[in-house]
Amino acid sequence: MTGDTQSRERWPVLVTRRLPQPALDAIDERCDMELWEGPPEAIPRDELLKRIGGKAGAVTLLTEKVDAEFFDAAGPQLRIVANYAVGFDNIDVEESTRRGVMATNTPDVLTDTTADLAWALLMAAARRIGEGDRLLRGRKGWIWGPEMMLGQDVHHKVLGIVGFGRIGQAVARRASGFGMQVVYFDLFRPPPEVERHVGAEYRVFDDLLREADFISIHVALTPETRHLFGTGQFRAMKPTAVLVNSSRGPVIDEAALAEALRSGEIFAAGLDVFEKEPEVHPALLELENATVIPHLGSATVDTRIAMGTLAAENLIAALEGRKPTTLLNPEAWERTRGG
Ligand code: GLV
Ligand code: GLV
Repeated sequence: MTGDTQSRERWPVLVTRRLPQPALDAIDERCDMELWEGPPEAIPRDELLKRIGGKAGAVTLLTEKVDAEFFDAAGPQLRIVANYAVGFDNIDVEESTRRGVMATNTPDVLTDTTADLAWALLMAAARRIGEGDRLLRGRKGWIWGPEMMLGQDVHHKVLGIVGFGRIGQAVARRASGFGMQVVYFDLFRPPPEVERHVGAEYRVFDDLLREADFISIHVALTPETRHLFGTGQFRAMKPTAVLVNSSRGPVIDEAALAEALRSGEIFAAGLDVFEKEPEVHPALLELENATVIPHLGSATVDTRIAMGTLAAENLIAALEGRKPTTLLNPEAWERTRGG
């Protein structure tokens, strides 16, 4: 250790789960890091509230609720909560701003990786990949047949994107290789040149439901998007439709989806996220036409390192008095500067 690093301030910070090593190294270099390593794997609420006390910063995961109780437990010296996720529905950003605490997320670095995953789910659900894998592993006899395990064509069909942000647009761009027509719905319409560049046309939500052969969800979880998909929406969709969700589980009414899949109201679903994560609705687990995977949207080696590096940079920037690059509440930053 050089004299310089010795004399520099080292901030007490909490990291709630083991991150890829480069991120931990970067944090460790500038901070006194308390790392929750379990068991259990996810830090229990009481441990979180105990350990956040007196910290200047924290790296949190989507499994940790950052709310008034959290800020009370932390104390007034807390300056930054760096979320290791693009979604930040686990953070009460308004409360964070009220407390003058900066909050950051990890956008951009996971856009393409999550778009790839949405496509993997779309293809798997359309072509019954999980079901086929289970069939072979069941070690029962099988023989090629003209009507065996028929799925839905993907190419030249209509892809409906719900939530046309970075990830939704990246999913849309991938559709051109399949010769698909792309329609989208979002409350915020991007400028026409974005629509042209991506090759997607706007539809009101109800029209998209009726028109699309595939629907991929890319909205943030908010009070407005909770149960955006329920019985009425499944009824409006085609019986051949495939629904994909790699955003947040509560956007779908899971019991209603299970019923729609069971009764053939829609053809299949590919789900990366769940309403009561980590629990999966038991009815979905019984359905061959539900492809379910454990929240793997951003789960690649490179992307998880990039997310960790970005979260660490945000944390350290805030502690050093620099503006974090992916700040969710610039008001909290202005407040810091105002003294
Ligand atoms: C993961 O779901 C994320 O929001 O990054
Ligand atoms: C996620 O943040 C997105 O913009 O899609």
